[in-house]
Amino acid sequence: MNTAVIYYSLSGKTDKVAKCIIEILTSRGEHADLIRLRPVKEETSFKRQCRDAFFAKKPELIPTTTDLRKYNRIILGTPVWAFKPAPSINTYINMCSSLDAKEAIVFATYGSGVGRNNTLKIMKKMLQTKGAHVTKEILIQGNEDQGIYRKRLENLL
Ligand SMILES: Cc1cc2nc3c(=O)[nH]c(=O)nc-3n(C[C@H](O)[C@H](O)[C@H](O)COP(=O)(O)O)c2cc1C
Repeated sequence: MNTAVIYYSLSGKTDKVAKCIIEILTSRGEHADLIRLRPVKEETSFKRQCRDAFFAKKPELIPTTTDLRKYNRIILGTPVWAFKPAPSINTYINMCSSLDAKEAIVFATYGSGVGRNNTLKIMKKMLQTKGAHVTKEILIQGNEDQGIYRKRLENLL
């Protein structure tokens, strides 16, 4: 199995989860690449971050691979922002190559939990539009102990 773990993270929580996923997969002898999305201009105002997420803006990203043909599985992760995925996710999925017949898994980290299911729903829809089959999903509270979510991830993957 060749997997791409694609994610955005502002304050490091989603980053930690993404790296934990990579560790689990590589410890099983699988190949997995980490693709971290970074906007050219990182928005620093909370209000504007929420507005951009809520209105599904597509910020320009620092160039990264968008050709996912060599992967048979895509794992896509985001923090919940204003009940939705972080805007970088919108840009990336819009730009990436066809995901026809690829397996996909979505995950989100969250604070209060408001909008967490909606966030996954939106990501699933975006991936399905590109042709992927979303088979699994996982939600992780940003402050959840890594030992605990690692076990949940091991069971899921
Ligand atoms: C702009 C912004 C909007 C947020 N909106 C929500 C929200 O609607 N629901 C929620 O549960 N958490 C919300 N959060 C909390 C984040 O989802 C949570 O802290 C997440 O784990 C941060 O991930 P990161 O460290 O990878 O950036 C928001 C955080 C930010 C910065």
